[in-house]
Amino acid sequence: MKKAIYAGSFDPLTLGHLDIIERAAKLFDCLVVAVLENPNKQSLFSVEERKCHLEMATARLENVEVASFKGLLAEFAREIGATVAVRGLRNAVDFAAEYQMYLINRKLGQEIETVFLAADEEHLSLSSTNVKEVAVFGGNIDFMVPQEIKPFILEKYQK
Ligand code: PNS
Repeated sequence: MKKAIYAGSFDPLTLGHLDIIERAAKLFDCLVVAVLENPNKQSLFSVEERKCHLEMATARLENVEVASFKGLLAEFAREIGATVAVRGLRNAVDFAAEYQMYLINRKLGQEIETVFLAADEEHLSLSSTNVKEVAVFGGNIDFMVPQEIKPFILEKYQK
């Protein structure tokens, strides 16, 4: 069974992330979407909240599981038996950073192959940072996030 991991912050989940998840789920027998628990990074949503958002948005995808991890991606991938790390690429800036991450992950876990999926053109401008930037000023985020997640984002900024 070919198991892949798609790790990220998902703070919050965007339509770009969801597109990568849907496409990767078609390529592998099992896709584990893993939220990084990073105590050094201030986040809008807790890890549990982000897992819950991912579970809601991927409930219809039978071979997708949601998890969280601390520490190294390569180690967590090994622990769960994933042999592929999926990453999305929007542009050359992403590529530069992702290529470095790929090289490091290769050193840390030689059995793990990285597969890059090019973002759909509709999602090239999407990032979790941009979602927060628009939401904080009350802008329309309909084209940025899955509909199920939208109320949770609005709620954060109404407080
Ligand atoms: O959503 P993001 O912020 O682009 O996700 C980045 C993530 C979580 C995939 C990356 O930071 C990661 O794998 N962190 C775990 C630590 C690690 O393994 N680092 C080695 C590569 S530099």
